[in-house]
Amino acid sequence: MVSNSLSRESTALRSRTVVIGEQSFPYHFGEDCLTEIAAAIAALDPDTLVFVTDDTVRNRYSPEISRLAGGIPSITLSHSPGESMKTLTCLSAHLESALRAGITRRSVVVSFGGGVPGNLAGLMANLLFRGVRLVHIPTTTIAAMDSVLSLKQAINSGVGKNHLGTYYAPVAVFTDVRLFATLPERELRSGLCEMAKNCLAIDPSTLTAMRELVAKGLSAAPDSLLWLLDASIAAKSSVTREDTFERGTGLVLEYGHTVGHAIEISDHRVRGTAGISHGAAIAVGMLVAAHISHARGWLSDDEVGIHYELTTGLGVEPALPAAVSVEDVLAVVADDNKRGYLPVRPDSIPFVLLRALGRPERTGDLPLTAVSLTEIRAALDVIAATAEVG
Ligand SMILES: NC(=O)c1ccc[n+]([C@@H]2O[C@H](COP(=O)([O-])OP(=O)(O)OC[C@H]3O[C@@H](n4cnc5c(N)ncnc54)[C@H](O)[C@@H]3O)[C@@H](O)[C@H]2O)c1
Repeated sequence: MVSNSLSRESTALRSRTVVIGEQSFPYHFGEDCLTEIAAAIAALDPDTLVFVTDDTVRNRYSPEISRLAGGIPSITLSHSPGESMKTLTCLSAHLESALRAGITRRSVVVSFGGGVPGNLAGLMANLLFRGVRLVHIPTTTIAAMDSVLSLKQAINSGVGKNHLGTYYAPVAVFTDVRLFATLPERELRSGLCEMAKNCLAIDPSTLTAMRELVAKGLSAAPDSLLWLLDASIAAKSSVTREDTFERGTGLVLEYGHTVGHAIEISDHRVRGTAGISHGAAIAVGMLVAAHISHARGWLSDDEVGIHYELTTGLGVEPALPAAVSVEDVLAVVADDNKRGYLPVRPDSIPFVLLRALGRPERTGDLPLTAVSLTEIRAALDVIAATAEVG
């Protein structure tokens, strides 16, 4: 849950309080607000700042990182970008570097980057002296609109993604939407697709504004990004307010993810990091979910149409990537990690399906329902019949 009113803390920063279970933290956001962010960090009175970033972000934003540190002693820990950073090896090296630099319990770990440095920094802050203060400064839309609104901090094991993790809250999040100006188009759109998911599955009252913004092609403008960020914070917080671990009402955030993840994994197996972006894969996953709901007589033609309008308006091809077949997707879906949430037959998967926009079908308290692999195949066949993505 977030505070009802959008208050202005300074000329440049707006603030909302994010509540996740028993934890709460302020989320400050604005445009061209690095000076205000630096002042807020200084007000935490840290003895040292440990910036965690990746090489791309560090190379581009080194002067800004210095500006954020102000006169406070700081170290910057960086690694080549991407999932290879979310490993025990990198975590261990960063922890040793921070300790060798002489950090104390008064130090603050500051993530400056996307969801990858954010997750690594979250774990570091949790482990150092059994918990030092954590500040997130997300520089991707995925991080700003999604990962920093969760307490989940995780790295990958040799067996799978996000297997080693914990729940840990930041003391504050600061977003300057100007930092998104240098994002590659695919990264920018990826976060906006997650935002579209929130509008469709959680808060359809935002759909009129979202549709207008997408139709006018304004979604990358700073004012649009501020609005999208505010709506994201409100929507995501509304379902995690009483669900710290995202295992109850928060599971609605998985809308589009069962099939979306399977598409992402299948494409990345073939094309590596050049594969479909996370957000685009989730967008296609939402189309599959919408077709299944439609086949059950739940979503209307118009409601499915809105899914297509937003998806394509955000530049996502409503199709499977060329390297991915229906069989590839079904093979991954059959192993979906939501299996444990509901007792389902071996030929079915627990799935987030919408009865209407903003109204997920429930089983007990969970926004999940059993969907058969046959239903998923039928919806995938509709998508696969669309021109393939290169
Ligand atoms: N904790 C959660 O609940 C949660 C939620 C969503 C995602 N995640 C995690 O987040 C990660 C994905 O996040 P991401 O998409 O931000 O990935 P990322 O951190 O790898 O960033 C994507 C790319 O954008 C570049 N980049 C970052 N900021 C930039 C900027 N301002 N200008 C130019 N380039 C910039 C990075 O160098 C990187 O190459 C995944 O590991 C995922 O598991 C976690």
